[in-house]
Amino acid sequence: MGGVRCFPFPTGAAALEDVTRLARGMTAKAAVAGLDLGGGKAVIIGDPRTVRTPDLLDAFARVIDSLAGRYVTTTDVGMTVADLDRLRRSTAHVVGTSPAAGGSGSSAIPTAVGLFGAMQATVEHLDPGSSLGDRHVAVQGVGKVGRHLVELLVEAGCRVTVADTDPAAVEGLVADHGVAVEPVERIHAVACDIFSACALGATLNPTTIGELRCSAVVGSANNQLADDGCASLMAERGILYVPNYVVNAGGLIAVGDELFGYDEQRVSRRVAGIHDTTRAVLRDAAGAGITPLAAAAERAVQRLAGSPRSAVA
Ligand code: NAI
Repeated sequence: MGGVRCFPFPTGAAALEDVTRLARGMTAKAAVAGLDLGGGKAVIIGDPRTVRTPDLLDAFARVIDSLAGRYVTTTDVGMTVADLDRLRRSTAHVVGTSPAAGGSGSSAIPTAVGLFGAMQATVEHLDPGSSLGDRHVAVQGVGKVGRHLVELLVEAGCRVTVADTDPAAVEGLVADHGVAVEPVERIHAVACDIFSACALGATLNPTTIGELRCSAVVGSANNQLADDGCASLMAERGILYVPNYVVNAGGLIAVGDELFGYDEQRVSRRVAGIHDTTRAVLRDAAGAGITPLAAAAERAVQRLAGSPRSAVA
């Protein structure tokens, strides 16, 4: 399982590289979250503002349907729940549609809830006995996930600074919650406790990592590191990088549950479990003297090796 991303990739090779990397990430995400799902992903090459015509979505749905459930799709960057509802007309192998179309709705809310729990776990790990509510969090990208996250952070009493390439996304949060705003090119360099990358991938590279002024990085963006070596660069700077696929599993947990007969309580319990999984990954990493990225990868490999075939607990 994994979403379909609509993006104007410059070449087919670039699209293939991205989709393969994203699918691999979905496998690790499902394994660490304890889900009995493999990872997959799809891309539609084109500008999401123009390419998503009903005809194209119907054609895409027919391709999904031809795979007979070996790949189950859902939303990702550049796609909406309304698009999924359109796909659902031609194939059963789509989750995360609107409740009216039989789905569990937007996955951004459980993703933000899980991310918030992971931030709490990170603060507890770094400073036992302290609370996230006393902290300053800088959020890069306040779209579907980032906006819900900011609402949870503000409610918890956090100081919040945001940035987004879309001025409208930022204006709403300033008006409703009085959050501070930084230019997009400086948000990663804000002096804060946690930097949260919730925009697109690969915003953490050797240059931006050198400019970070936070204690930890905990964000939803898939593939937020330019490459895995970036986790070591952060460790060398004394910054705790909590792997994105550990902390952003809330959406997958929710939509994946549709395959097993959606159960709201089970979903809430599992999303809340991201807190404990994060703590366990950070504890494993500290105990073994490795990065949390390496500790999470180890967990994924162990779960895949065990590969229990049991139904969802
Ligand atoms: P979205 O497209 O709704 O929001 C992304 C936001 O980032 C937009 O407001 C956009 O204007 C902004 N943005 C783009 N480039 C930026 C930059 N350089 N600096 C600042 N802002 C920038 O996407 P969504 O759903 O909120 O997802 C955010 C990230 O979380 C993505 O990487 C996605 O793959 C990941 N994710 C999303 C899940 C979901 O359930 N929606 C689940 C797991 C991961």
